[in-house]
Amino acid sequence: MKQLTLGNSGLEVSAVGLGTDTFGRVDKPAVKKIMDAASDMGITLVDTAYLYGGGKSEEFIGSSIAGRRDDFVIATKGGHHAHGAPNRSNLIKQLDTSLKRLKTDYVDLYQVHMLYNATFPMEELMQTLNDMIRSGKVRYLGLSNAYCWQLCRCNDLAEIHGWDKIVSVQQHYHMFEREVESDVSQYCEWAEVGILPFFPLACGLLAGRYTRGEQPPEDSRAGSWGANMRRYFDYYGNETALDAVDALAEFARARDHSPAQLAIAWLLHRPMVGSVIAGVSKLSQLEDNVKAAEWELTADELKEVNQIIGAPRRPLPTSWDWTDGELDRGQP
Ligand SMILES: NC(=O)c1ccc[n+]([C@@H]2O[C@H](COP(=O)([O-])OP(=O)(O)OC[C@H]3O[C@@H](n4cnc5c(N)ncnc54)[C@H](OP(=O)(O)O)[C@@H]3O)[C@@H](O)[C@H]2O)c1
Repeated sequence: MKQLTLGNSGLEVSAVGLGTDTFGRVDKPAVKKIMDAASDMGITLVDTAYLYGGGKSEEFIGSSIAGRRDDFVIATKGGHHAHGAPNRSNLIKQLDTSLKRLKTDYVDLYQVHMLYNATFPMEELMQTLNDMIRSGKVRYLGLSNAYCWQLCRCNDLAEIHGWDKIVSVQQHYHMFEREVESDVSQYCEWAEVGILPFFPLACGLLAGRYTRGEQPPEDSRAGSWGANMRRYFDYYGNETALDAVDALAEFARARDHSPAQLAIAWLLHRPMVGSVIAGVSKLSQLEDNVKAAEWELTADELKEVNQIIGAPRRPLPTSWDWTDGELDRGQP
């Protein structure tokens, strides 16, 4: 497995990582099998959050990594607005809970989960994150769902105060969602901050998980997310997008690859992407996705793929509340 460095930090991560928002829906024994297989395949980066599965994601990971903690780069998150503001006291409490659930005394990457629309002092945030580093509980710092100005402000404050900087930002990013390229990725290239795309498969849409004209299966990523996911698919899964999904699948299959491998390999060719943390609910999906790391798209292939994807669509409003699913600014 190809290893990449995250931004200009010293943190090495596998090009294909593992997203674990499915853990909890996926039961504990199945998580253990997925985690063992991931490690055997050379996957190191495992992305979780205080929020996921009501804590089960972190708990199941904690049980799975017992005795092999050093084989993994564990990234977790705190500070989602579902649990209050990402202020000092909430972040400290949540990190301590995450460490207990993960059965470890440090996380490799601690990411502030949701900065959009959050109003609180950035100095306090950066001071808190740096106190976590000094305590030894956290190795590197990341943000998620952040505006470009917030990322700049955090790193400017770090420079002024001599604090550790933000080394990565986790943003919504896939073939049909490219708002990150309008400003965040430009800053990341300039400041050498790594990008971790979330929803890299558009929740399975780009992996061919769903059938046109049929409701998503109940046990699927889309089926398990209720009304929120229906809005997501109304937004990204329109007829034009579904035509592109079919054409992308044909492109991949003609080269003995799967649609998921194409979606991941394409992201790995975008600037500053450090690792692609696709989520899986089955071992077979992981075995499929991991092969994306070996697929170097040629310049001609990239050109053809970009033609199929077409012009970037209007992004999902960043003010969209993932928890309540309010889509308040029209259609793409
Ligand atoms: N920072 C944030 O706010 C944020 C938000 C969301 C997610 N994340 C992170 O990003 C990770 C990835 O996002 P995600 O898991 O929600 O979405 P995703 O990676 O875009 O899609 C994952 C889903 O795609 C399907 N899939 C995966 N591999 C497949 C394959 N080879 N063939 C067919 N279908 C395949 C599975 O669906 P089924 O389960 O239906 O089989 C899987 O659950 C999360 O796990 C989480 O770690 C972060």
